[in-house]
Amino acid sequence: MCGIVGYVGQRKAVDVLIPGLQRLEYRGYDSAGIALQVEKGIEIKKSEGRLENVERLLNGSAESLQKSHTGMGHTRWATHGKPTTQNAHPHKTGHVVLVHNGIIENYLDLKRDILTRGHKPVSETDSELFGYLVLDEMDKGANLAEAVRKSFVGLHGQCSMVVMSEKEPGVIIGVRNGSPLVAAVDPQGGAIIASDAQAAISYTKDIFFLDHGEMVIATNKGLVFEDLKTGKTVKREPVKLDWSVDKMNKGGFPHYMLKEIHEQPVVLVDTLNALLDRNKHTPFPLSDQPAVRLLENARQLIFVACGTSWHAASIGKYWIESLAKIPVSVELASEFRYRDAVLPSGTVVIGVSQSGETADTLAVLRDLKTKKIPTIGICNVRGSSISREADAVFYTSAGPEIGVAATKTFSSQLLVIYLIAGYMAHKSRATSDTTLAKCFEDLVKVPHILSDMLEPDSSMVRQVTGAVDSVKDAKGFFFIGRGTSFPMALEGALKLKEISYDYAEGYAAGELKHGPIAMIDLGMVVVVLAPKDLWRDKTVSNLEEVKARGATILGIGDTEDHDLKTLCDLWVGLPKEGRALEKGLLPFLLSPIVQLLSYHRAVYRGTDVDKPRNLAKSVTVE
Ligand code: F6R
Repeated sequence: MCGIVGYVGQRKAVDVLIPGLQRLEYRGYDSAGIALQVEKGIEIKKSEGRLENVERLLNGSAESLQKSHTGMGHTRWATHGKPTTQNAHPHKTGHVVLVHNGIIENYLDLKRDILTRGHKPVSETDSELFGYLVLDEMDKGANLAEAVRKSFVGLHGQCSMVVMSEKEPGVIIGVRNGSPLVAAVDPQGGAIIASDAQAAISYTKDIFFLDHGEMVIATNKGLVFEDLKTGKTVKREPVKLDWSVDKMNKGGFPHYMLKEIHEQPVVLVDTLNALLDRNKHTPFPLSDQPAVRLLENARQLIFVACGTSWHAASIGKYWIESLAKIPVSVELASEFRYRDAVLPSGTVVIGVSQSGETADTLAVLRDLKTKKIPTIGICNVRGSSISREADAVFYTSAGPEIGVAATKTFSSQLLVIYLIAGYMAHKSRATSDTTLAKCFEDLVKVPHILSDMLEPDSSMVRQVTGAVDSVKDAKGFFFIGRGTSFPMALEGALKLKEISYDYAEGYAAGELKHGPIAMIDLGMVVVVLAPKDLWRDKTVSNLEEVKARGATILGIGDTEDHDLKTLCDLWVGLPKEGRALEKGLLPFLLSPIVQLLSYHRAVYRGTDVDKPRNLAKSVTVE
């Protein structure tokens, strides 16, 4: 969604705003702009397209702009109105300038009202309308903070807003009314406001996460927090983020996505270390924490999530049901939200979201809290909305993920869910401790195996790139699998379509003949996920049907599965070390393969791998 950065302080504002917006580019955007306060007022430079266009405008502008110490910037992901320069933020209405992330739901009523008052909006956005409200309040005598507060009364929808006025130089107001907003004190004097901690993390690790309905006033002296409704000062404590700045650079890789795929072994170890108490002598020694205590009384689990997080939970369902033998359902948050779901007592709901901000997942957890259903979040971002609003949280320690396509956060979510499965199985005695001990021992081996698999010249990497080279002319892709490989097939297809824009479908292998097989012919590539697990033989029998219809078959399976390999045109073998692993752990090894397939295909197709079109990293609107 839209990215926001505001700065007031001792540094040159452009030196904070441009790098800050660059850090937020990963969220996806289609236009950008910045506003800078100079002696004679506030000047705006904005453009459709990339941030570089704004930088070019700035380079050709007066020195006073470069020297300004106060300003704000925005990357826009169009909702109301096309991605044009006119609709780009910031918007200036009289002496008021603002940037906005989110949606004003009652904007049509608002627009009528604004027009009746004689104003003439120049953009098609809902955002600009808010500026007129502030302007009118200030004209009636309110100061900027009061005017912003009053303008929020009667506004519907989730959003965050950052506002300045030429009448109050050196003041930047930020409001969180649903959509995330953070603030930080600049150790050199002044303050930063941003939609995401990544824009501030180069200056300080102490980040204030605003609550819904909170306002922050940033000046040279620092930050003051107020309740949006009452205007009363609120005392806030910062959260210390443990993200390192080098995790936010490409580290020699051509794309963030590739770097993040390669970080998986390390983030799995970090996630394990953060969640375990190695002094415990149980097979799955999860450290004592609120989320673990909530699991203890669970008789049924419901996972709610979207996209890739939903796929992680869907794989987890197989694990939890088979090891812990308790019922699990996995729900798309956007559907569950509006359903009359039956929630028997003993239900614990787990919201899985790397960003911790996904609007639908958050809405479900909020709603269930009011119904007194215990909620747990699995999140990667400390201080995010879900992490603060769920009753308890398991954090993944994946560090910042900049590529829009989820990769390392996905595998760390898998890890957390596997730990949950093992822990609950031990508690319920549904699986013997001997088996669980082997599961855990093998789990710990996974990062090492992944590390070898991801070596630059490993046979996996060579086979994947070779396969991508061989299917250059493919007109579409089907990913098929059974058991845990079914959600992994969905994930493979999602990765491919989101970054390479290829036609791609994921299917349960057994479903193929119930319709989709009609699509299979010459030119289609069928990626079959068939590791040697419970489901392998059934999947292979489905493959024969595909082969008969002329598709190119790319098999992913046990490296010594010669029968399967013979059926396939192209082949990626799982590493030998994977053979001795508990079969349930094989999704961890399949995951980098499908990720790399989509990555190399996208590179071949020349797409913007880290910032695919139309997508956003954190989806804070419905
Ligand atoms: C795909 C992807 C999305 C997200 C989905 C949920 O690569 O990243 O499908 O998984 O938008 O996001 P979170 O996990 O932040 O709730």
